[in-house]
Amino acid sequence: MLQDSFNRQIDYLRIAVTDKCNLRCQYCMPANGIDYIKQSELLSYEEIERIVSVLAKEGVRKIRFTGGEPFLRKDLSYLIKSISKIEGIEKLAITTNATICIKYVDDLIPYGLTDWNVSIDSLDKKRFETITRRDEYETVIDCINYLKADPRIKLKLNTVVMKQHNIDDIIPLVELTQNHSLSVRFIEEMPFNGSGNEQAELVWDHKKILWHITEYFNHVNKIPDPQNSTSFNYQIQDFKGSFGIIPAFTRSFCGTCNRLRMTPTGLIKTCLYDKGTFNVKNMMRAGATDAEVLTAIQEAIRYKSKDGFEADKKRRGGNSTLLSMAQIGG
Ligand code: 5AD
Ligand code: SF4
Repeated sequence: MLQDSFNRQIDYLRIAVTDKCNLRCQYCMPANGIDYIKQSELLSYEEIERIVSVLAKEGVRKIRFTGGEPFLRKDLSYLIKSISKIEGIEKLAITTNATICIKYVDDLIPYGLTDWNVSIDSLDKKRFETITRRDEYETVIDCINYLKADPRIKLKLNTVVMKQHNIDDIIPLVELTQNHSLSVRFIEEMPFNGSGNEQAELVWDHKKILWHITEYFNHVNKIPDPQNSTSFNYQIQDFKGSFGIIPAFTRSFCGTCNRLRMTPTGLIKTCLYDKGTFNVKNMMRAGATDAEVLTAIQEAIRYKSKDGFEADKKRRGGNSTLLSMAQIGG
């Protein structure tokens, strides 16, 4: 079992398989992108499988594939299928921008990839293009409709709330949950935009988002939050789906955090806000045994910060610059 010093059991690994992306979302990357990692610096699929096998023996049960855009990594389906066969792995999930994934959906569902999170920050074509700096609106909407129509899929839409871009999208996005059993999650904007700059303050925090929604809809009911959930969840009376608010910036969910992150280069992170603990790829390439790899991960977990504020403080102390979310894994 992997447990930190606050008795949190770590059973969920988020693997960023690439830092590459074909969109340039304002909150994630600068307009001219980020310096992409060299192929030789990426964890290979064999290395990823090895880490998952080691961790599955210690109680990791859920894997999420993220990026960048995970489907930009060559033969991602191959990796997903082989991870699905590792003993102990019970849940597979993916976070995608839905621009290129539609052709893989039916092939991957039988392997247990049923938990799909899609980023969509506006339902308006022009605003979508301003936010993502790319012309992919129709493709993304087509893919969302495809995923939405499949009852085997648990679909969540992720929307980063940005005061200058998409406040007018909040209500239409909630309305999407009237006839579809999907969940729309509004995410507080975090400072991981690859520019190194932080916003002075967060105006649209989780309270303001909720207030905005309750001003418009009459019956907003609180519904139970799943275990280890990072969102506060709600449902409009008689709507099929639900919505959630993720206080990613105000960080009130850290107490039940059960996650570990691995970046495309093999940096192990125990918190979104930390600077990374050690590089497991370098360790493996230097000849470490599985037992040594496990000990290093256990050690990292033992020093997991109490919450994102503590991790952030330590990172600042180490003068580490803020990454793009595409480098961390969204
Ligand atoms: N703040 C909040 N969420 C972000 N994401 C990416 N960058 C940020 C940020 N700066 C989220 C997006 C996307 C996922 C990959 O990560 O919602 O769905
Ligand atoms: Fe790409 Fe996701 Fe970053 Fe947007 S948020 S640029 S889709 S990695």
